[in-house]
Amino acid sequence: MTQLFINIKELIQVREPNIQKVSGKEMGILPTLKNAYLRVEDELIVDYGLMDTLQNKTADETIDCSGKMIFPSWCDSHTHIVYAGNRTQEFIDRIQGLSYEEIANNGGGILNSAKKLQETSEDDLYQQAAKRLQEVIALGTGAIEIKSGYGLTVAAELKMLRVIKRLKENFNTPIKATFLGAHALPAAYKKNKAAYLDLIIEEMLPKIAAENLADFIDIFCEIGYFDVEDTARILAAGKKYGLIPKVHVNQFNAFGGIALSVAHEALSVDHLEELTQEDIDALKGTNTMPVALPACSYFLSIPYTPARKIISAGLPLALATDYNPGSTPSGNMNFVVATACIKMKMTPEEAMNAATINGAFAMNLSHKVGSITKGKLANFFITKEIASYSFLPYRFGDHLIETVYLKGKKATR
Ligand code: NIG
Ligand code: FE
Repeated sequence: MTQLFINIKELIQVREPNIQKVSGKEMGILPTLKNAYLRVEDELIVDYGLMDTLQNKTADETIDCSGKMIFPSWCDSHTHIVYAGNRTQEFIDRIQGLSYEEIANNGGGILNSAKKLQETSEDDLYQQAAKRLQEVIALGTGAIEIKSGYGLTVAAELKMLRVIKRLKENFNTPIKATFLGAHALPAAYKKNKAAYLDLIIEEMLPKIAAENLADFIDIFCEIGYFDVEDTARILAAGKKYGLIPKVHVNQFNAFGGIALSVAHEALSVDHLEELTQEDIDALKGTNTMPVALPACSYFLSIPYTPARKIISAGLPLALATDYNPGSTPSGNMNFVVATACIKMKMTPEEAMNAATINGAFAMNLSHKVGSITKGKLANFFITKEIASYSFLPYRFGDHLIETVYLKGKKATR
């Protein structure tokens, strides 16, 4: 099956296969082709170019894109979309003055979601997560990472990871699974953190590895959750099973978690709302991708990750949603890109690089997605008629995507 997309007003993020991420000043450049064509064969992008140079016009299907642009799918490298129910009561409590930390200290927060998830069947959980995944696909996401971490018991963590495995099997798009057993300390272990870490290392990890349920390992490295020593233990234990670290760090406090994550060759460090010069220096010259989650900052009214500081230090930056019931009940990457421009002062070019190629890198998927590149998956979206690519962040809150393709197949009606 060959498809030919013609008269594309602008084909966005056209890259050679050797580009796996962009850093510093390069982030300000978004390569595009105006008045372009794109050829897809089965699942893959096989050719693209300017309309003037289009020779072979034969195809099983020809799609006219006049006035419209094609973007590579958003690559959302940080989500928690497998969860049960919602936390609207905490949302209202925060409107009325309680902080995220106060709610967590009162037994709400992650433990609230864990209680709900433990009581929910695997099938029910799958249905809830699949609906969210279908919704974010319609919003342009075409590669996604999903974490566990609302189970916090052996059985419930396995249940979450099995749900992610089913999503991988049933959805036509790359999905990566992250084991986040160390997301919060369950009430039963309140006075014995070491015993919970033992449970993760001695019981959860071997079972997860035996069923091949995770690609990555994560921990919430934060005051009141897990410290640098705990993080070192968990990351080292994960490594024994081939799980690469992606770490929740520096959301509320900076205390050395980034240097530690880099020392463990983390693929990404995520959140970074609080960032010191030492943290930036620790990231220089490494392969660890900093990941900002501006929709979380927006929802919790906490500081935004200092993108300008990161980019002017020559570092790369990725953008992701953090879609979860507590701190970010939204999986809309278009909103993330707009918020990065509006609140973090990223240019549209920087934000789009961060949400595509750099997001792909943060999932070890830059060889498959993240750009319009020959040989990559035909995961992209066609916009409505728009004046320029900057319209996506400029018209924040609007839905400017008309059609989504995953592996060359229409994923939306
Ligand atoms: O990334 N920060 C830790 N974990 C999630 C939120 C968890 C929750 O509140 O349910 C996050 O923001
Ligand atoms: Fe998160």
